[in-house]
Amino acid sequence: MAIGSGKEEQLEKRLDEQGGGNSGSQSAGVPADGKVEGNAYNPQGNPGVRHWQASFISRDGLQDRGNIFFAAVEMTRMPMVVTDPRQPDNPIAFANGAFFDLTGYESGEVIGRNCRFLQGPETDQRTLDEVRQALAEQRAVAVDVLNYKKDGAPFWNALFIGPIFDEDGQLLYYFASQMDITERRANQEAYLQAQKMEAIGQLTAGIAHDFNNLLQVINGNLEVAMVSLERPDTARPALERAQRAAMRAGKLTQQLLTFARKQRLEPRPVNINNLVVEFSDMLVRTLGGKLELRLDLRPGLPVCMIDPTHFEMALLNVLINARDAMPDGGEVTVATSIVRGEDRLKVHGLPHGTYISLCVIDHGPGMPPEVLRHATEPFFTTKGPGTGLGLAMVHGFVQQSHGRLELSSQPGQGTKVTMIFPIADSASGADEASSANGAQADENKPCVLVVEDNDDVRELAEQVLEMEGYAVQSAGSGEQALALLREGDPVDLLFTDVIMPGGMTGIELAEQARTLRPGLPVLVTTGYMDELPDCGRSGGLEILAKPYRQESLLEKVRVALARQPINVVPGLGGPLGGNDG
Ligand SMILES: Cc1cc2nc3c(=O)[nH]c(=O)nc-3n(C[C@H](O)[C@H](O)[C@H](O)COP(=O)(O)O)c2cc1C
Repeated sequence: MAIGSGKEEQLEKRLDEQGGGNSGSQSAGVPADGKVEGNAYNPQGNPGVRHWQASFISRDGLQDRGNIFFAAVEMTRMPMVVTDPRQPDNPIAFANGAFFDLTGYESGEVIGRNCRFLQGPETDQRTLDEVRQALAEQRAVAVDVLNYKKDGAPFWNALFIGPIFDEDGQLLYYFASQMDITERRANQEAYLQAQKMEAIGQLTAGIAHDFNNLLQVINGNLEVAMVSLERPDTARPALERAQRAAMRAGKLTQQLLTFARKQRLEPRPVNINNLVVEFSDMLVRTLGGKLELRLDLRPGLPVCMIDPTHFEMALLNVLINARDAMPDGGEVTVATSIVRGEDRLKVHGLPHGTYISLCVIDHGPGMPPEVLRHATEPFFTTKGPGTGLGLAMVHGFVQQSHGRLELSSQPGQGTKVTMIFPIADSASGADEASSANGAQADENKPCVLVVEDNDDVRELAEQVLEMEGYAVQSAGSGEQALALLREGDPVDLLFTDVIMPGGMTGIELAEQARTLRPGLPVLVTTGYMDELPDCGRSGGLEILAKPYRQESLLEKVRVALARQPINVVPGLGGPLGGNDG
């Protein structure tokens, strides 16, 4: 953030001298010269040039109140205060009428007190840190801070503070002006909200459009398949087309869930170099004809535990930003490296460990500090029609992967976006192999109780499981499922949707089912991962994200059955083994 000049800098700057004459100037000031004092609201509407950020006066004291300037300060509608930092706790030494009008306090209630009496429960501490820091450095600062009037009413205060020195550079006073910008903030927030709604509208319209197309393909091909049941050579390709479109629709919902950060990540040990290389065709296509992609990949990279699909999406998002930053072409570098050693970890603020960093470097115009500060906020965009979700998504993904996202950029010097991920611990590699278990012999297939309120979805699951040779029981609600379990039907695995009508969720069902049948393996499925409590493997629940592919369902069923040694409660259900082969 560009801030007001520091004290040393002030002393070196050209001064604007005032009230000259034989005795020399009566006061002098450091003109702002376009240097802003912070990100706060600026009443001039432009970076100030001529107002002073620090002043030097020749006569100390506040008693001289007979001149035009004192009258002006009392007449202005801009609240102003002067504090005396030579007194303990920097108390108010003077406040003008407009300050009392704004805050509702009387002179006797404020003179001699530090201005912090204006603060309250919702005042942002980081803003106060900024002020404290500026005062410690004896420099100007401007912040928007939430304050409270005497009657308790909150208001947004555009506060500007600047130091006043004597001719030798000794600090005498602080001057501050305040301004109630509550209405402006409310308008600004309403405007931002409207923009977000606009962005959501755009996003929704785009999604509706894509989904319509996919539904068209699915329905059309299913119709073709229906009328061609007698001709498998026609029906089959139609079904395959419908299936591909349905999978694309599934991908789309996954992407939306990532926007909403409600996506369940499926981390597995991956080598980032391999992913980048495998994905490089796509990256080159994304960059378009004018940009060169340069890969600078550190050989021998350890593996990381990340979700490869989301990693690719994140990389794509960053590449798209780089592309948009360089419309005239140039080179974009994707580089990987290992981050280890206490010094390097310290630079990145990382806890002890070894990390992989992947950075994307462009040579675009770069970002000014105020843009950089907001770049990962959702809906923040400088690109016009975009929704501003790109870097927010990347940030969400990296955070969820226990990593860090770092942005460094300066106007005229391009941008470097770095994603840092911890390397996988050696134990996690074992997971990769676990998916290779073969199917079990049909005659030994256990019984799966499918609980799902949507008839079509339930029937599909039943069919897939039956085709694989499982015995299937089904229920349309948690209550029905419990009734089945109470009747003592043999059930080896409970496969349940999470959100179901009728009050009982899949999670509650799982709990009650486990009371009836301790150790019963449970597989839950949902498209809305946020609904799941933290009940992953430690809670003994396997989780299947919706929409799922047949093979994912079968795989999860196998894993769930194999994971939990099944304890049979005597008298409830028959022997539940037969699934461990
Ligand atoms: C001249 C001057 C005016 C100030 N005016 C305000 C103000 O209007 N509202 C506010 O919240 N803080 C104001 N402050 C900041 C507080 O006095 C104080 O510096 C801030 O709370 C951080 O320090 P602390 O941690 O000691 O409270 C002002 C400070 C100075 C020097």
